[in-house]
Amino acid sequence: MDLGSCTSIIALHLILYCFCLEFGASIDTISLSQFIRDPETIVSAGKKFELGFFSPVNSTNRYVAIWYSNISITTPVWVANRNKPLNDSSGIMTISEDGNLVVLNGQKETLWSSNVSTGMNDSRAQLMDDGNLVLGGSENGNSLWQSFQEPSDTYIPKMRLTANPRTGKKTPLTSWKSPSDPSIGSFSLGIDPSSIPEVVLWNDSRPIWRTGPWNGQVFIGVPEMNSVYLDGFNLADDGNGGFTLSVGFADESYITNFVLSSEGKFGQVFWDDMNEGSWRYQWESVQDECDVYGKCGSFASCDAKNTPICSCLKGFEPKNADEWNSRNWTHGCVRRKAMRCERIQNGGELGKEDGFSKLERVKVPGFAEWSSSITEQKCRDDCWNNCSCIAYAYYTGIYCMLWKGNLTDIKKFSSGGADLYIRLAYTELDNKKINMKVIISLTVVVGAIAIAICVFYSWRWIERKRTSKKVLLPKRKHPILLDENVIQDNLNHVKLQELPLFSLQMLIVATDNFNTANKLGQGGFGPVYKGKFPDGQEIALKRLSRASGQGQEEFMTEVVVISKLQHMNLVRLLGCCVEGEEKMLVYEYMPNRSLDAFLFDPSRKQLLDWKKRFNIVEGICRGLLYLHRDSRLRIIHRDLKASNILLDQELNPKISDFGMARIFGRNEDQADTGRVVGTFGYMSPEYAMEGRFSEKSDVFSFGVLLLEIISGRKNTSFYGNEEALSLLGYAWKLWNEGNIAALVDPGISYPSFHEEIFRCVHVGLLCVQEFAKDRPAIFTVISMLNSEIVDLPTPKQPAFSERRSELDTASLQHDQRPESINNVTVTLLSGR
Ligand SMILES: *[C@@H]1O[C@H](CO)[C@@H](O)[C@H](O)[C@H]1NC(C)=O
Ligand SMILES: *[C@@H]1O[C@H](CO)[C@@H](O)[C@H](O)[C@H]1NC(C)=O
Ligand SMILES: *[C@@H]1O[C@H](CO)[C@@H](O)[C@H](O)[C@H]1NC(C)=O
Ligand SMILES: *[C@@H]1O[C@H](CO)[C@@H](O)[C@H](O)[C@H]1NC(C)=O
Ligand SMILES: *[C@@H]1O[C@H](CO)[C@@H](O)[C@H](O)[C@H]1NC(C)=O
Ligand SMILES: *[C@@H]1O[C@H](CO)[C@@H](O)[C@H](O)[C@H]1NC(C)=O
Ligand SMILES: *[C@@H]1O[C@H](CO)[C@@H](O)[C@H](O)[C@H]1NC(C)=O
Ligand SMILES: *[C@@H]1O[C@H](CO)[C@@H](O)[C@H](O)[C@H]1NC(C)=O
Ligand SMILES: *[C@@H]1O[C@H](CO)[C@@H](O)[C@H](O)[C@H]1NC(C)=O
Repeated sequence: MDLGSCTSIIALHLILYCFCLEFGASIDTISLSQFIRDPETIVSAGKKFELGFFSPVNSTNRYVAIWYSNISITTPVWVANRNKPLNDSSGIMTISEDGNLVVLNGQKETLWSSNVSTGMNDSRAQLMDDGNLVLGGSENGNSLWQSFQEPSDTYIPKMRLTANPRTGKKTPLTSWKSPSDPSIGSFSLGIDPSSIPEVVLWNDSRPIWRTGPWNGQVFIGVPEMNSVYLDGFNLADDGNGGFTLSVGFADESYITNFVLSSEGKFGQVFWDDMNEGSWRYQWESVQDECDVYGKCGSFASCDAKNTPICSCLKGFEPKNADEWNSRNWTHGCVRRKAMRCERIQNGGELGKEDGFSKLERVKVPGFAEWSSSITEQKCRDDCWNNCSCIAYAYYTGIYCMLWKGNLTDIKKFSSGGADLYIRLAYTELDNKKINMKVIISLTVVVGAIAIAICVFYSWRWIERKRTSKKVLLPKRKHPILLDENVIQDNLNHVKLQELPLFSLQMLIVATDNFNTANKLGQGGFGPVYKGKFPDGQEIALKRLSRASGQGQEEFMTEVVVISKLQHMNLVRLLGCCVEGEEKMLVYEYMPNRSLDAFLFDPSRKQLLDWKKRFNIVEGICRGLLYLHRDSRLRIIHRDLKASNILLDQELNPKISDFGMARIFGRNEDQADTGRVVGTFGYMSPEYAMEGRFSEKSDVFSFGVLLLEIISGRKNTSFYGNEEALSLLGYAWKLWNEGNIAALVDPGISYPSFHEEIFRCVHVGLLCVQEFAKDRPAIFTVISMLNSEIVDLPTPKQPAFSERRSELDTASLQHDQRPESINNVTVTLLSGR
């Protein structure tokens, strides 16, 4: 072999080698030699994001953008040449000679540049799987520039928004001008560098929404944040006097981001894969009028539950009474009586010392100043000692906030928020002198309460005498109050007007006069019919039986609970009908009926393979999580069971039947009830025996459901069985024998799924443990199912796995109702 052919072989190898390297790396990378020309694109390694040229709707302009590669609607999350569009398809994106990433038009003019000093000409840009476009040197991995530093209108997880109070610099989201024009519009959203860190949405430079200050965990003006889906936020000091907001979502199984629309609407959207797929709002910044910045002007507070919504702070009066009375709040309120320190400055009479009046549970006003004091007393003193301080608030995690000038954007919350102390002249304060009048009225009130209590207890006593023959659950350790009172409270909050009312006539037509042919089934409190409105919309209609005295309350509970909830895994209430004796609830129609109709039917259960079953399990979890943690209310369902899980066209689960649900206060973890409602086999021991319920009793029911889904057997199908008393007992027995495979429905028991299925059995057993404290919370369950939590604790013996004497379910079945007890919700009255 002569030297010439040797070199040519080496050269050939080199070329091939380079070609392969280039080819392998080019998929997600732009470099000097590897540029993209309209309409070429590059795709991130995990195929999540794609970068290329696109045109917005109703526009022929071309822009370089990054979008989700795997969804049917091209949704740009970042746009490069926002302000300088291409007017033809001659554009290219490449690395320029100075090492910057650039967009050039056909005339080689630069329309956009990453515009950093790179000091090199061999840099390359890579599209990462989190949607970030990173420009770096080919040698070292340092990044010179990232698209995450220059956000457009979309905040995707892992992006960071920054602000530096010292330099006043910030990187906000900026809206598009219109859906067909990505150039910078008038809205922007970011951390406000001028005060205690919080996120503000601006219309040009005017704030129009704010989150309230960050307390280290949540923004105190966003009550929905005490929930999991807004979890993962962090606002941290970056060490240079700046702040960085970041969001990391644990759940990467669904596509979600925060977007600022061209109309100034900000919210979290998620990609709903149903049908062709669409973006849907999961959360919106403006939930009621009071979220609009400064709705009531200065020195006024806003409470959406009041009419009128605006009221002046104590000690303040409308600046312009006529305007105010005609509900024009623009000018807000003014102080009625000057503070003492102001009077001193103006040389007026002195009088007594000023004081502070407390306003509870509010979103504190904007433009707070930070004081370094970290005790409440010190904070108060700070405010006291400076006449320009007109209010203070002290909040753990933020400590001391002071206000000067004006108080704007105060929103009242029913729970959460912070307490605001407003400085007032002495005469405006509630003076603490107890005069004779007060004593007299106090006596009267106390007397009245005492009498009321006596009457109540004697009534209870009589009532108990009357119902004591029906006492079925004798064990009761805790004194209880009837939960009717609580429900009544909740009813006071409900605005029935919010819910569409259907006329009886309309529903009669829709169901062909409640034709039995249209009957879908029999719920606990009345029959359910299928119906169809003239426009073709199909509905499910629950008609409360007139005979059922209890139905009334469940009806109202359901209206209260479900009208406020919206989640893809909860059935949607379309409206109700209250006419005369008739009470009806109208739901969206679920063509596939309920889960039990599939799961326990030998032929239809074939339709549920393991993937579908797991999807159902996850959906139920998400629905429950929403009830327990995410919604504005905290709700315990109390009657979770297979027949209350409805399935839509794609077999996605939706939790239904909220007649038994209980709304909890945010700080309430557990409650007792005198009326145990629920379904045998699904009720947790502490609930069935003692009437105590909590999120963990729903977790128990979920555990039973999970085991039913895996085994394809009803929990109650074990009555009279020699092998075990219940599904739980059976599962426990097999678990201890190391034979979980025997529990699994043969129809889904493929070895490739075993690991996942066994894990679910394990989680199921954790959920049905005897003691509530041992059971995981639902968000933990989700992490366990997704294998985010890898090491699961060993389950303890489940409840109801051994024969018990206290609750002989078989005999109850005969006492109470002749029908199948698995399907009918039973109500038990218990005495103490
Ligand atoms: C696009 O143009 C059509 C016709 O002018 C209009 O109906 C539609 O609303 C426009 N779409 C958007 C998003 O602007
Ligand atoms: C893309 O979408 C399909 C169907 O929606 C899904 O099966 C696939 O896992 C997705 N791929 C990625 C990388 O997300
Ligand atoms: C497109 O834009 C270039 C400048 O960017 C301009 O010279 C050219 O005339 C434009 N073409 C059309 C058809 O508008
Ligand atoms: C590039 O950055 C420099 C300063 O960093 C700035 O003066 C210049 O206007 C920028 N150019 C473009 C095209 O943004
Ligand atoms: C890149 O820079 C090096 C020196 O810094 C120079 O020798 C080389 O010609 C440059 N390459 C290009 C394509 O400009
Ligand atoms: C933004 O400001 C403009 C002009 O000041 C106004 O017309 C528009 O209604 C405002 N939009 C919102 C959402 O506040
Ligand atoms: C409220 O009053 C101000 C000043 O009188 C006026 O400019 C504004 O248009 C009024 N707003 C409404 C909604 O009537
Ligand atoms: C009170 O606060 C104002 C404004 O922050 C400040 O200028 C002034 O020095 C303070 N006065 C005292 C006595 O601390
Ligand atoms: C309230 O004070 C802030 C900051 O001091 C100021 O920007 C704003 O214009 C004031 N608002 C009113 C209504 O005076």
